[in-house]
Amino acid sequence: MIISASTDYRAAAQRKLPPFLFHYIDGGAYAEYTLRRNVEDLAGIALRQRVLRNMSELSLQTRLFDEILSMPVALAPVGLTGMYARRGEVQAARAAAAKGIPFTLSTVSVCPIEEVAPAIDRPMWFQLYVLKDRGFMRNALERAKAAGVTTLVFTVDMPTPGARYRDAHSGMSGPNAAMRRMLQAMTHPAWAWDVGLLGRPHDLGNISTYRGNPTGLEDYIGWLATNFDPSISWKDLEWIRDFWQGPMVIKGILDPEDARDAVKFGADGIVVSNHGGRQLDGVLSSARALPAIADAVKGDLKILADSGIRTGLDVVRMIALGADTVLLGRAFVYALAAAGGAGVANLLDLIEKEMRVAMVLTGAKSIAEISAESLVRELPVAQPA
Ligand code: GLV
Repeated sequence: MIISASTDYRAAAQRKLPPFLFHYIDGGAYAEYTLRRNVEDLAGIALRQRVLRNMSELSLQTRLFDEILSMPVALAPVGLTGMYARRGEVQAARAAAAKGIPFTLSTVSVCPIEEVAPAIDRPMWFQLYVLKDRGFMRNALERAKAAGVTTLVFTVDMPTPGARYRDAHSGMSGPNAAMRRMLQAMTHPAWAWDVGLLGRPHDLGNISTYRGNPTGLEDYIGWLATNFDPSISWKDLEWIRDFWQGPMVIKGILDPEDARDAVKFGADGIVVSNHGGRQLDGVLSSARALPAIADAVKGDLKILADSGIRTGLDVVRMIALGADTVLLGRAFVYALAAAGGAGVANLLDLIEKEMRVAMVLTGAKSIAEISAESLVRELPVAQPA
């Protein structure tokens, strides 16, 4: 299949992957309304074209916390990334590092912290959930620190699991799931050989290291479901803020009041996110939530944003709406599934090219010059005559 656009990787991934894995990454919560709106709202935001402004010198570089990023993009934490390519977290982290941007390892990754962090020559970011098992949380934080992790991304929008109805249909969960997954693997031999066989062990590396025995894919949803902690509040995060010396980013903010609370708490950053439409269906898209949050806290902490970003134009739109940097989740996993680390590297090059075109034609020479002025102000909706 010919890949010419960043969005081509989704179809390529669908061809390669057993359906249970494709739908796990592609799907969202309930009727997937928010999942769709994330993409549609963002794509519908009009960029403001400007011309004849001598755009020969362009810089995409940005500074975030104490890091220089070659462009305002980081790879988001995605659980089970190592099921999408052989030792997938290592491949994706290497592609990100080669591009000069951060990679965030998920708590529920296949490859453990100790396998991924030494494979790259820049500090890795690490994502942690709020879990009942505080022993695991402490252990994971200590291991992350020992591995040289700088930035901690704390996911707070999962005190309870959202229902992903697609998973039951696809064989990720539901009746006869194990047998259905086996059949799907047999009918996708390229994946079965490269990832299913040569990519082992397929366990949750961080959790297995803590428990001292393998934690299989079967245990993934079960372990997470029994570990979600609906009693969590800002107070419970204080020991982490005191323990963690590096930047701490709170992921899963959709409301300006929560963003202000994150500032009061002393967070260094937030991620404006609805978890890629995977948690509460019907909430605002990130693109619609972001401007009010930026009004409330821009400058008090760094604003990251995810959910719905598929192209370099989307990155420019999110920055114009008030983000300092964006996270790419699904987009990089599709590329990883289709073509491994080389796919992620190509995706990042495509995103960069798309950003460059958008910056030249909106008249922004640097990331700091992308602003609300880069967008067309909302046009009044035409009234019927
Ligand atoms: C986990 O965070 C998921 O969205 O599946």
